Amino acid sequence: MRGDVRQETETWLSALGDVLAAAAPSVPAIHCAAADPRFQTPDPVNLQVLDHLPSLAAGAPPKIRGLIERFAALAPSLAWRQTYGVGQADAEFLSRYGWAELVGSKGILHEPGVSAGLLLLGPDCHYPAHRHPALEYYVPLSGTARWFDTDLGWRDIPPLQTIVHRSGIDHAMRTFAEPLLAYFHWSGAGVSDQARFSSAD
Ligand SMILES: [Fe+2]
Repeated sequence: MRGDVRQETETWLSALGDVLAAAAPSVPAIHCAAADPRFQTPDPVNLQVLDHLPSLAAGAPPKIRGLIERFAALAPSLAWRQTYGVGQADAEFLSRYGWAELVGSKGILHEPGVSAGLLLLGPDCHYPAHRHPALEYYVPLSGTARWFDTDLGWRDIPPLQTIVHRSGIDHAMRTFAEPLLAYFHWSGAGVSDQARFSSAD
């Protein structure tokens, strides 16, 4: 069963890679190492934000709706996580926030020095300003959200645009009526260091 999840994830990532190669060529491609039998597929962990999976396809460009529907079917089998706990973030934010690493030290597929996966935010969600040492690329796949960083300010960014957060820059996001599904790719020094809230936005 868990092997099936790994296979489905590899297949989905390969299809995503084709999309990103055309729409977001500056985002580093994923080259997964051969499956390591010592590397366990994480058990599924579901979060409240997964309630919004059924509405993701409607917010995606028509050419990737099938890809998003396949992800929505795969998502409940993934390990969804939150960087911040109760006491660090308010309950409303935590009910509308989660991420799943697909490639990296905690993901289904192993690639040293990288963390890549999907961020999901529900509607009307403010992800407060935060920072981390890793270089970060985002490519929204569903939903037009408002993105902030201290270099460029607030910008409404539709799906399949590339967002880059250099190491240590403060950044934030805000969703409105529709949820946001965005691919993330971390690399560089501090790839294992967690994000921390700041107060820039
Ligand atoms: Fe970030």
